[in-house]
Amino acid sequence: MRFLPDEENLTAAVVGLGYVGSCVAATLADGGIDVIGIDVDATLIEEFSRGECRFRETGLPELIGRWSGTSRLRLSTSYQPVAEADVVIVAVGTPIHAGGVLADTQLRGACEELSRHIRPGQLLIFKSTVPPGMTRKLVVGLLEQGGLRCGEDFGLAFCPERLSEGVALRELRSFPIVVGGWCADSAAAAAAFWRRGIGVEVITCSSIEAAEMVKLADNWWIDHNIALANELAQVCSALEVDVLDVISAANSIPKGNGNVNILLPSVGVGGSCLTKDPWMVWRSGQELGVEVRTVPVAREVNDSMPGYTFDLIAAELARQDRPLAGARVAVLGVAFKNDTGDLRATPTQPVVAALREAGAEVSIFDPLADPDDAEKTFGLAPTGSLADAVQGADCLAVLAWHRAFNEIDFTELRRRVASPCVLIDGRAYFTRDRIEELRRSGFIYRGIGR
Ligand SMILES: NC(=O)c1ccc[n+]([C@@H]2O[C@H](COP(=O)([O-])OP(=O)(O)OC[C@H]3O[C@@H](n4cnc5c(N)ncnc54)[C@H](O)[C@@H]3O)[C@@H](O)[C@H]2O)c1
Repeated sequence: MRFLPDEENLTAAVVGLGYVGSCVAATLADGGIDVIGIDVDATLIEEFSRGECRFRETGLPELIGRWSGTSRLRLSTSYQPVAEADVVIVAVGTPIHAGGVLADTQLRGACEELSRHIRPGQLLIFKSTVPPGMTRKLVVGLLEQGGLRCGEDFGLAFCPERLSEGVALRELRSFPIVVGGWCADSAAAAAAFWRRGIGVEVITCSSIEAAEMVKLADNWWIDHNIALANELAQVCSALEVDVLDVISAANSIPKGNGNVNILLPSVGVGGSCLTKDPWMVWRSGQELGVEVRTVPVAREVNDSMPGYTFDLIAAELARQDRPLAGARVAVLGVAFKNDTGDLRATPTQPVVAALREAGAEVSIFDPLADPDDAEKTFGLAPTGSLADAVQGADCLAVLAWHRAFNEIDFTELRRRVASPCVLIDGRAYFTRDRIEELRRSGFIYRGIGR
């Protein structure tokens, strides 16, 4: 096949070994592909070379430990080994400036380096999320600076990465991979590579732009859906009905190819993707003369949720005649996502800041977050143990739920906290039975929309 050799043993270079690149590199290596991992961050490459992994993704440190230093996973800060690869996968970061404009420094840097190192016959696959049209308008021109022609000398495909943190390796091995090719040969080679490398279903789109849009549409949908859940929660709260009752019953009817699927309300949306990708859509709309109104609305709703959560805490404490100034609030779980320690753009940060601003004495506890990271993000050293964090608390605010919290014995905890003690459920986590239990243990329970 053009752009993909028939040989059994394939070699892939993965450029950009951040969170996504390292998951892809480790999965390919584990699947039998010889991988060359390339990153400009020398410290990261040294860590990987020692078999260490800074990303707390389930199963990833084990795969890095198993394959790094073997011929299955070689690591480099140089682009020199790119020539050895049959396939080059690019997963550098693509943040945005205000207004949704792509900050393209990493992507430009990678393409410029690749233009000096690729050779005829190779297949290049771009995974980094970009606004539609960016691969054709920016990437191809930069790659061709070295003299090779796209579609003639090398193949090119855009295959968006759609994994989510915490379950990334499982999703990489099970989610369909979307392929948009520069030409039919490129698309066919990319599809064949993913089938051989990971063994997953491949969905081939009609163009690179369609594949670029798929990733953005997924995250636009998720962000919008969460905004709906968050507003539904606020209406339910005013109605004094439990939003989870409403969501689970509402989700019971078929619509389109599946059921209605309203996601869960929460303290807010964080991380690098859902806060960024919808703005890329909005920006592209502006440039194309389309006013995308749902993006700013959903972003505003989700960005308002930390404030809503703060108000909920303040209101519940006030009901107990406990002013915020001087109240002790223990925040349990500070990551932006359950079961991860990721603090990027975490919505728990503005909640903690507002509580402290109002004079509350706040402790934070998260068994998965890196303590130094937490101290930098919150300007507050995290408490080393749950017992210390909750000591004398007037309010426990559960703002991220980790599996480790399943072990918490709230009846036991009741002896450590103040009386009364408010329990705020920022993740719509507790079932009705658990809420009854909490109430029997003496907690005053409130959740977002509950
Ligand atoms: N993090 C996620 O959950 C997620 C999920 C799906 C898709 N994505 C997308 O995947 C892409 C990568 O995201 P990430 O979270 O892995 O980013 P990241 O910031 O963790 O990693 C980017 C890596 O690229 C390296 N890099 C930068 N310039 C380089 C260059 N010129 N040559 C080689 N390496 C270079 C950086 O040193 C860094 O290690 C982004 O486009 C992102 O939007 C991310």
